[in-house]
Amino acid sequence: MSALFPPTEPLTDGVVTLRLWTEADAPARSRAFHGDAELVRWTDLPYDYDAGEALADIRRGHELLDVGERLSFAVLDARSAVIGGIDLMLTAYDRAELGYAITASARRQGNATRALRLLSDWSLSHLGVHRLELPVPLGNVASAGVARGAGYEPEGQLRSFLALRDGGPRYDVTMFSRVRAVGAER
Ligand SMILES: CC(C)(COP(=O)(O)OP(=O)(O)OC[C@H]1O[C@@H](n2cnc3c(N)ncnc32)[C@H](O)[C@@H]1OP(=O)(O)O)[C@@H](O)C(=O)NCCC(=O)NCCS
Repeated sequence: MSALFPPTEPLTDGVVTLRLWTEADAPARSRAFHGDAELVRWTDLPYDYDAGEALADIRRGHELLDVGERLSFAVLDARSAVIGGIDLMLTAYDRAELGYAITASARRQGNATRALRLLSDWSLSHLGVHRLELPVPLGNVASAGVARGAGYEPEGQLRSFLALRDGGPRYDVTMFSRVRAVGAER
């Protein structure tokens, strides 16, 4: 059975760094995710995402960490500026699902791929999870590119798999996964 705990040190590859969100990040988080049609299209974030909503989300993330359900990281660039976020949610049977977003001005520079690779490598070697899942809605070409770049394999399509908003449309997805290497039991 896997347990959820954060890394003792921030995760970094020298270009991007992942660390848990703090309440002081609320203004930077709202600036990163404010006024972005791509985020509205592919996540549950509102267009006018403000610092109050960001603070509430950060606090909710802390509560979910306390109950062992979710790790929520800020993605920082080399100057320690917030450029995005990445989450890992434990699901069942030692599986976890990941999700991520990068601010518009920092896209197409490999940042999401780096963040996903960092968190995936660490999770598979430290958390006791055996399988990482990325359900990517059909049409989210950017996210599918990130998944492939971080070593995830497409397994097939799942119909009506997720809804991003209460009462909103349901999406067919391509399920991408990475699994712990055979022989890497802990
Ligand atoms: C998806 C997202 C996180 C990608 O972030 P990013 O930092 O730009 O991704 P990367 O730079 O690591 O891109 C890696 C690869 O993905 C593909 N890709 C990324 N953005 C793309 C785009 N707009 N169109 C086509 N392919 C794209 C490319 O193959 C790219 O490699 P390349 O730049 O060498 O061509 C970002 O677009 C975003 O925040 N989107 C809104 C939120 C979202 O969709 N989250 C995922 C939910 S499943």
